Amino acid sequence: MHIRDLTSVNIGAAISLWRRSGLTRPWNPPEIDLQRALDGLTSTVLGAFNNDRLIGTVMVGYDGHRGWVYYLAVDESQRGTGLGRQLMSAAENWLRKHGAVKIQLMIRSTNEAVLGFYEHLGYEDADVQVRSKRLT
Ligand SMILES: CC(C)(COP(=O)(O)OP(=O)(O)OC[C@H]1O[C@@H](n2cnc3c(N)ncnc32)[C@H](O)[C@@H]1OP(=O)(O)O)[C@@H](O)C(=O)NCCC(=O)NCCS
Repeated sequence: MHIRDLTSVNIGAAISLWRRSGLTRPWNPPEIDLQRALDGLTSTVLGAFNNDRLIGTVMVGYDGHRGWVYYLAVDESQRGTGLGRQLMSAAENWLRKHGAVKIQLMIRSTNEAVLGFYEHLGYEDADVQVRSKRLT
């Protein structure tokens, strides 16, 4: 297994993984999210590969103040083997390298299953409320 930045060639496999992992939403075209993150100077999508097969992803971005994580997903057949932890560690290293001193992520309120995972990795409840507004 190795972890590297995705390229445009991997977009189909990543989106398939995200759909299977329940991370996509109809109003948020994942291919646009992915391409934008790959094109950005302070963002990327890291992929874990077993030979040439994509088995995990994590999107990272530094906004000049904090580092953010999105689209963490591990192929169902590989879960429980430590890959989620390795991807989060790769995301932390990438953000550190780009100057971020803090890492944050959002968890959908319907995704309670993942709460224990993040807690186990040392991620605390930030005790904030997030507000959002569409700009398009
Ligand atoms: C969340 C996800 C990435 C975890 O990946 P994974 O490869 O199964 O996790 P790991 O095997 O690396 O687990 C790392 C550690 O967390 C622990 N852990 C995993 N899930 C846990 C849970 N729900 N509660 C408590 N601990 C948990 C593991 O036991 C392991 O502990 P250890 O390293 O001390 O032995 C995976 O379940 C997934 O793809 N879920 C669907 C997509 C998703 O919800 N993504 C998050 C969006 S916010």
